[in-house]
Amino acid sequence: MGKQYDFNQVIPRGTESGSYSIKWQGYESRFPGYKFDARELLGMWIADMDFLCPPEVIAAVKKRAEHGIYGYLSPDAVEAFKRAAAGWFARRYSYQVPTDWMLFISGVVPSINAAIQEFSAPGDGVIIQNPVYYPFSNSIINCSRIISNNQLIEVNGYYSMDFEGLEKLSQSSDNKIFILCNPHNPVGRVWTRDELYRACRICVDNGVLVFSDEIHADLIMKGQKFTTAGTLSDEITQKLIISFAPSKTFNIAGLAASLIVVPNKEIRERLAQRMIINNYPDPNVFAPVAGEAAYLYGDSYVDELTEYVENNFDYVIDYLKENLPAVTMRKAEGTYLGWMDFRKTGVESKEIYSLILEKAKIATDLGEWFGSGGDGFVRINLACPKSIVIIAMERLKMPFKAFN
Ligand SMILES: Cc1ncc(COP(=O)(O)O)c(C=O)c1O
Repeated sequence: MGKQYDFNQVIPRGTESGSYSIKWQGYESRFPGYKFDARELLGMWIADMDFLCPPEVIAAVKKRAEHGIYGYLSPDAVEAFKRAAAGWFARRYSYQVPTDWMLFISGVVPSINAAIQEFSAPGDGVIIQNPVYYPFSNSIINCSRIISNNQLIEVNGYYSMDFEGLEKLSQSSDNKIFILCNPHNPVGRVWTRDELYRACRICVDNGVLVFSDEIHADLIMKGQKFTTAGTLSDEITQKLIISFAPSKTFNIAGLAASLIVVPNKEIRERLAQRMIINNYPDPNVFAPVAGEAAYLYGDSYVDELTEYVENNFDYVIDYLKENLPAVTMRKAEGTYLGWMDFRKTGVESKEIYSLILEKAKIATDLGEWFGSGGDGFVRINLACPKSIVIIAMERLKMPFKAFN
């Protein structure tokens, strides 16, 4: 069958585009100490995509914009979004979720903050598994809680969970919450049902609440299977909060729409109350209509997108093998984020980052941002046209060939 979507199209997002994309404009302060002209860099860092959203999403936003009145929103809009999400969860993850288990919230990070505030006290520990999406640590610190790190185990670039470590941390009464990243950003693991069950079981048996961030649930490579923590067991379900969002999948992060699924009524009501206390805003008028259209009509978009991104991974992996063998990257099992390993070059982390930013002129996420285990790595965003990936690899070769 022919392709429906043109992911090869290069759409300018820099200053001249007027789109104010942080991936491509005004991000210098995120890389203090490095000298570069942001206009010359390829934006391959923060996790949004350089692809158009599904046409149905664009049409829904346009239709709403053309109405011309942007007054307060009826809850019916959020209800329609939730119904579409329930259909998506059932079709894509075989997960049946009644809409009254869902809470609308602008983003996953505010959900994490609310959960930490409501279900732990200042000074309590929150378990994460480094290297991991860095706002987890920021939220824990901002809420005056303590980071309890259960370091992932890495062997030849493949990561697994340290179940014994998790058990020890869960047994300590200081640790109240476990933030799981499923699939795991930045290492790209799509945790198996067995791994998830074991990890969640350990937490639940020790009275630790599980917060499962499943924002990357949809971009799953061929041969992999995504499991939501919501389908593990009834008992786990009663000590579980899950975050889902259409933002990564359909490139609508700037519209700020996500959903928290909380099967347990008491936990759900406490979280909802905490969101009110925190003054979390009502959705903007575009968020629910975009989310609804995405979940209703986005299936073929995601299928083609995943294939396209997988092809970008294959290209990079082959290129590195041939041209820069000391730089390695495994294909992510899920997510469009590549975890690129420079350790075999023998170059120290800060020097790697300056070669990438200043010489190769590519903006990537720096490995050190992801906590322990991040040194010697960068995270590269491969949700972009292949022509950009090709340029990036050519640029990378120049400063690193001396170390290969
Ligand atoms: C694992 C993970 N969680 C959450 C987010 C951000 O979520 P939000 O923008 O909804 O706060 C990201 C964005 O990259 C992410 O990778």
